[in-house]
Amino acid sequence: EVDSRRLAISASVRVIPHFPKPGIMFNDITTMLLCPGAFQAAIDLFVERYHRMNVSAVAGIEARGFIFAPSVALQIGAKFIPLGKPNRFPGEVISERYELEYGTDCLEMRVGAVQPGERVVIMDDLVATGGTLSAAILLVERAGADVIECACVIGLPKFKVSTIQGKPVFILIDPVS
Ligand code: PRP
Repeated sequence: EVDSRRLAISASVRVIPHFPKPGIMFNDITTMLLCPGAFQAAIDLFVERYHRMNVSAVAGIEARGFIFAPSVALQIGAKFIPLGKPNRFPGEVISERYELEYGTDCLEMRVGAVQPGERVVIMDDLVATGGTLSAAILLVERAGADVIECACVIGLPKFKVSTIQGKPVFILIDPVS
């Protein structure tokens, strides 16, 4: 299902070989942000998918999920919820720790950001192992909301047919190599 908009997105992603470590082909979406047509195409594809799915909140994962989720949220009339690294938000938060290849990391959400029963889409720029999205799903669902789907600009093809924590993953393009 490769259309011209997906091709424009793929063409605007920059690949940095061996970053941040040997063997990793880093997919950099910041070059896409310099191509308004490609950036707009990505936002439009998400908006077209979610504007009729009764989504009440779009959650974005720090850092690069913050680039996409607010635009989608505003265009579908949903609220934007930032899911941040530790100590970003004042006041009461809930947090979810997750494993990295070396060590652990943590995502936090403000208590009260989402209400029980809300329908939430979680967004990030890229899904690789799925560990980050898995933690984000657990975090949002601990607050009593329903995660409808995860959405990423770039993802491994396997996530088009598999789920994370039982949730579907909507991906615009395969990784660029
Ligand atoms: C990248 C990317 C996702 C995550 C995906 O973030 O933006 O958030 O990795 O990887 P996973 O599916 O294996 O969990 P990164 O870890 O580089 O953190 P950053 O946003 O703070 O740079």
